[in-house]
Amino acid sequence: LSSTDVDLGAMQVGQAITVKWRGKPIFIRYRTAKEIKEARDVPLSQLIDPQADKDRVQKAQWIVVIGICTHLGCIPLGQKPTDPRGDYGGWYCPCHGSEYDTSGRVRRGPAPKNLYLPPYKFLDNTKIRIG
Ligand code: FES
Repeated sequence: LSSTDVDLGAMQVGQAITVKWRGKPIFIRYRTAKEIKEARDVPLSQLIDPQADKDRVQKAQWIVVIGICTHLGCIPLGQKPTDPRGDYGGWYCPCHGSEYDTSGRVRRGPAPKNLYLPPYKFLDNTKIRIG
């Protein structure tokens, strides 16, 4: 399938789900107000791969990223409630310790880049089409 439709309507604040798109894991998280604020408040000068949160999301509450570490391609942890998320509250890569924030931006290496964003669009308030 070249595109994947996902209905986010049943998700709760703080919940994360993983869907497949073209064989890749896509992480979707319904961010809390705190997570959104943290993502917005960090100065770009502190980022390894500077990118504003507003340029990484279409709606503030939904972060949608490709769940593949930009170092060597492991799948970061952070989707399950019991997973470690690292010091920046997003995702933690168990392979070599990269940490990502609530916008999916790398905050501690060795990953050189933020988690990539898949192409997607909102079909209505809560449905997205990835791809
Ligand atoms: Fe994630 Fe190396 S693959 S830190």
